[in-house]
Amino acid sequence: MKKRTQLVHGGSKRSQWGELSEAIFLTQGFAYDSAEQAEGRFIEAGPDEYIYARYGNPTVRMFEERIALLEGAEDGFATASGMAAVNGALVSMLKAGDHVVSARALFGSCLYILETILPRFGVEVTFVDGADLEQWRAAVRPDTKAVFFESMSNPTLELVDIEGVARIAHAQGALVLVDNVFSTPVYSDALAQGADVVIYSATKHIDGQGRVLGGVILGSREFIRKTVEPYMKHTGGSMSPFTAWVLLKGLETIDLRVRAQTDSALDIATALVGKPGVVQVIYPGLESHPQHALMLRQMGKGGTMLAIDLEGGKAAAFRFLNALEVVLISNNLGDAKSIATHPATTTHQRLAPELRESLGITEGLIRLSVGIEDPEDLVADVLQALAAI
Ligand SMILES: Cc1ncc(COP(=O)(O)O)c(C=O)c1O
Repeated sequence: MKKRTQLVHGGSKRSQWGELSEAIFLTQGFAYDSAEQAEGRFIEAGPDEYIYARYGNPTVRMFEERIALLEGAEDGFATASGMAAVNGALVSMLKAGDHVVSARALFGSCLYILETILPRFGVEVTFVDGADLEQWRAAVRPDTKAVFFESMSNPTLELVDIEGVARIAHAQGALVLVDNVFSTPVYSDALAQGADVVIYSATKHIDGQGRVLGGVILGSREFIRKTVEPYMKHTGGSMSPFTAWVLLKGLETIDLRVRAQTDSALDIATALVGKPGVVQVIYPGLESHPQHALMLRQMGKGGTMLAIDLEGGKAAAFRFLNALEVVLISNNLGDAKSIATHPATTTHQRLAPELRESLGITEGLIRLSVGIEDPEDLVADVLQALAAI
C-alpha cells in the first residue's frame, strides 16, 4: 500500500463487532482464561497478547504499527510525550562511561537531557554545530555510542545532513538518533538516509489539533523491543490508550494537513521576503535559503515552519504578535491553527543570552507554525501585523 493508504488503514485491528473506527481499549489490565495462561504470558507475551497497559495495549499497538509503516521502521514504542521518547531512546541505550555527540541547536528540554541529565550519570556529551560535518567528524570517536540531533532545528530551521552524519557515526559504530519533529513524518525518509532511530513528539503534526501529548521511538525490532521496551515499561513513560486513539485519527489526515500547511508556509515566506522591517525570512523552501539543496534532497519540501527576524528587536516582535488577528500567540507547533512564538522570551528564554545569540535566536525572531486556514487570510494577517509595527 502507498503511504496515504497506510495512514488510513495501517495497523487496524477489529474486534468481533467490526467497528469502522478503531476501538479505544481503555483498560489498564487484561483477564486471563487460566492461571497457566497468565504464567505463560509473563514468560513471553505473543504479538496480540497483553499484560498491563504500561507494557502495551491494543489501541497503542495500532498506533505504533501505523506510524512504523509510515516511517518504514521495523517497530515502534509509543510514549507519554515527545520528551519521554527523547529521554527513553537515549537513556535506555547509554551507560556511565559512554560518549555521545549532539548538535548544539536543540529544543530546550532536549538540551536539558543532554547537557544536565546524561552527564549526571557519567555519560560524556560533546556538542557540535550540527550543520558542519567537519565538527561531527572531529567529535565522533571509537567510544561514541550515539549521535543525536534535530533534523531541522527549533526555531532557526537549520538542517542537519542525515546521510553525512550517519556516514561519520557508522564508521565508528555509533547509533544515529534523530529528533524529526520539524521535518514531519510526511517528509521524512530518515531511516533510508542512515538514521537508526527516529523520534517524534506526536503532540505536534501527528495529533495536529492540539489535543494530546504523545511521542514515539522508531527503529529496528531488536532496538525497540530489547532496549527501549524494557526501559519504558518499567519506568512508566508509556502512552495512554485514549491518546493513541486520538493520534490514530491524527495520522489519518496528517498527509493532507502537512502538505496544505507547507504550501501556505511557502506563500507566507514569499510574501514576507524583502518587506520593510523584515531583516530575514528563514524558510528552507525558499531558493535563497542556504540549505535549500539539502532540503530538496532530504525532505523534498520546506515544511510547515518558518521564522522571521524583525528589525527593532523585542519591541517590534511584540507589536507584530499583538497585532495578529488570525494567527494565535502560543508555543505549540504543527497544529491546524497557525501559531506565532517569540522564542527569546518563551521556549528559549532559559538559554544563556550568548548561546541564544550564537544560535541565531535574536530578540526580533518570530517562529511561525503555519496551520490549515485559508492561505490568503494567513498572508493578509501577517502583512497587516507587519504594517502595524
Ligand atoms: C524538536 C522537539 N523535540 C521534542 C519536543 C518535546 O515534545 P513534547 O512536548 O511532546 O514532550 C518538542 C516540543 O516542542 C520539540 O519541538
